[in-house]
Amino acid sequence: MGEPARRRVEPTEDGPVLLYGPVDVVLPDGRRVHSDRPVTALCTCRRSRRYPICDTSHRRPARRTRSEEQDADRPADRSTVPRTDPAG
Ligand code: FES
Repeated sequence: MGEPARRRVEPTEDGPVLLYGPVDVVLPDGRRVHSDRPVTALCTCRRSRRYPICDTSHRRPARRTRSEEQDADRPADRSTVPRTDPAG
């Protein structure tokens, strides 16, 4: 019996992890996703509609959460702006 075949795993700068060779991806809930592709792009942003396989959704700008949208719509907090006293 020989040594097991070496697999190559290649994280990308801001996207998926590339897995070379056929792989079985086991998800936290126990589901298995099998890929026979020569290279499988494993989603790390969790925005893929085909999760755990990357569908390039990581290239689109991230959606803001509702609280982030509310914060952006809120007027700036001026309580930290120093007040000038006209009386001196
Ligand atoms: S890494 Fe590409 S869609 Fe998530």
